Amino acid sequence: MPVQIILGAQWGDEGKGKIVDHLSNRVDIVARYQGGANAGHTVILPGKKGQPDRHFVLHLIPSGIFHKHVACVIGNGVVLDPAALLSEIHQLETSGINVSGRLLISHNAHLIMPYHKALDAAREQGENKIGTTGRGIGPAYIDKYTRTGIRVVDLLDRDVLRRKLKHNIESNNEVLSKIYHKDELNVDKIIAEYQEFDKKIDEYVTDTSDYLIAALRKKKSILAEGAQGALLDVDHGTYPFVTSSNPTSGGACTGLGIPPTSVNSVVGVVKAYSTRVGNGPFPTELTNAIGEQLRKIGSEFGATTGRPRRCGWLDLFSLGYSVRVNGIERLAITKLDVLDGFDEINVCIDYTLDGIPVKHFPTDLQKLERVVPRYRTFKGWKSSTSSLRKFSDLPREARAYLAFIEKHLGTTLWMVSVGARRDQTLFAK
Ligand code: GDP
Ligand code: IMO
Ligand code: MG
Repeated sequence: MPVQIILGAQWGDEGKGKIVDHLSNRVDIVARYQGGANAGHTVILPGKKGQPDRHFVLHLIPSGIFHKHVACVIGNGVVLDPAALLSEIHQLETSGINVSGRLLISHNAHLIMPYHKALDAAREQGENKIGTTGRGIGPAYIDKYTRTGIRVVDLLDRDVLRRKLKHNIESNNEVLSKIYHKDELNVDKIIAEYQEFDKKIDEYVTDTSDYLIAALRKKKSILAEGAQGALLDVDHGTYPFVTSSNPTSGGACTGLGIPPTSVNSVVGVVKAYSTRVGNGPFPTELTNAIGEQLRKIGSEFGATTGRPRRCGWLDLFSLGYSVRVNGIERLAITKLDVLDGFDEINVCIDYTLDGIPVKHFPTDLQKLERVVPRYRTFKGWKSSTSSLRKFSDLPREARAYLAFIEKHLGTTLWMVSVGARRDQTLFAK
């Protein structure tokens, strides 16, 4: 069965964009299944004839878009911000990447409305700030689950759109009236704006579940691209410091409308260390000079918001949990090159709580905030890996580090990335 899920196994920004782009030359379809423009997936394309590399950050469009033969699907599980989408399409097209005829958007995807972003910002004013990306993700999923959301298909009917809009604005009136000045949140204005969007996105909208199932029947291969990461999953992550969707592998089926029996492999993208952007527990975080060094060498600043990412050592205890929840069989380890200059590299193997070893990864905050990681120390390789093109050429110490991760997690190491560019990718198997 030809569906392969590629997802982030940590707290996002593992390098999914690079890995998905790299693997897209061997698939027919790449499909995003959840999240929205909170994602920032970076893809670097080689410059043409002596020109510098081209740097793209995708927020909604799947990272397979740079391969002309690939159809890109935005599934029903995604919350779609039409303004963000159109700006992304424009950016791609001005760079000569045409999306017409191979971008498909689910008619069932929920729309991000202007007030979702305002509500997102308003919620972040209070206590227990999540540190969201401010893209309106939580409030859009709230509407979806309270069954008042506005879907792409609703853009076709002005009356439905008006009724739903009025209802949603009125039910949030108390908060919205504090944010917007009188008459600023004008229903007619929003309808006009979204109908204009509708005209522009109409050519892409279809029943994507139907499309994918038909493609499966024709034996086409599909790569399901996760956004965010497993530890940000609303059900399985470090709740409440999570996003509002299911980046874990189960989300791919509901978010695309494909059956679980069509999935044949799950690949976890893992950064060779850990990062987290936004608030929430992070047991292996380094708030010292080493953390600073990781941030600097790894250019750890958010691709969507530009915020500095919190950095720390690799955490195999949370990753073990991620491997189990997602059914990850193969690993793509990225940013190995960032560790090139370190004398010693630590890896967290488990946690203790009040001096007692913790048996299971605690997803409740009260425990997770108090755990103490136990580390195993590896000797650094102290040489540059970024120009290496064969796995077997990696320094012995680097291979020992990778072999330990592979064995400890009981998975197969498949790919190793030693730089952001396409050619900086090694296959271990
Ligand atoms: P994503 O959200 O998982 O797609 O990851 P992001 O694009 O937000 O962040 C990953 C960052 O690391 C981007 O700037 C990539 O260009 C960069 N990157 C990806 N793989 C590598 C790698 O192997 N080495 C280095 N140094 N950078 C990488
Ligand atoms: P990609 O796909 C890293 C984080 C936010 C915040 C939490 C909730 O590029 O890996 P939200 O805006 O989703 O309500 O914010 O989730 N977050 C991400 N962190 N990478 C992402 O996406 C993220 N998308 C959301 O920082 O902590
Ligand atoms: Mg990112």
